[in-house]
Amino acid sequence: MRIAILGAMPEEIEPLLEKLEKISRIDYADNSYYKAEYKGVELVIAYSKIGCAFSTLTATVLIEHFKCDRLLFSGVAGAINETLKIGDLIYANKLCKHDLDITAFGHPHGFVPEGQVYIYPDSDLITIAKEVAKEKGIDLKEGTIATGDQFISSSEKKEWIKTTFNADALEMEGYSVALVCDALNVPFFILRAISDSADSDASFDFDTFLEKSAKVSADFILEMVEKIAK
Ligand code: ADE
Repeated sequence: MRIAILGAMPEEIEPLLEKLEKISRIDYADNSYYKAEYKGVELVIAYSKIGCAFSTLTATVLIEHFKCDRLLFSGVAGAINETLKIGDLIYANKLCKHDLDITAFGHPHGFVPEGQVYIYPDSDLITIAKEVAKEKGIDLKEGTIATGDQFISSSEKKEWIKTTFNADALEMEGYSVALVCDALNVPFFILRAISDSADSDASFDFDTFLEKSAKVSADFILEMVEKIAK
């Protein structure tokens, strides 16, 4: 088994690399990939750069070039659901793309012909995440994660995403990574720790809490790796 761990930003994978030994860097397709081992499990770790285009590329490379057969995403998100506070962990039980819009042709938001509004992560990986949370006494939330190529820092926009997609959190890579994994039949799991509330304070909060929240997510993902390999 070879597990890919993907983040969007350096801050999202640094807490992983810090914990691993015998890391080798491979430069490929304009990005750096880190091969490592954790408790006997082969890992390939990368950050994609922000947004759907870069994360699509990196997820594809991790699967097609590096032959990873599971993909775990670790990173941060903006909260939509009011019960989510900074530092809380949420995994996607489904993902959608909030800025995909051909409604001019009568289609619903987030839908294009032959596509799907919601993509669903692997149920076995979700079960493992729940086991880790239970064993470690971590309050792991679940919900719909909405992806788009926009940093959301407006209560109105956030409210629109909430009502249109019934979403609980938002970020900029989950759906595109999900789409690649789904199409290539690679089980995947998308985890996010809250860095901000996608409102007028979002950019300040994001800068303040990015590193801390990214570490919360990365630490959880490493706990999952151990269990997945068993
Ligand atoms: N990731 C973390 N916070 C975000 C926000 N407010 N908008 C988009 N992506 C995010």
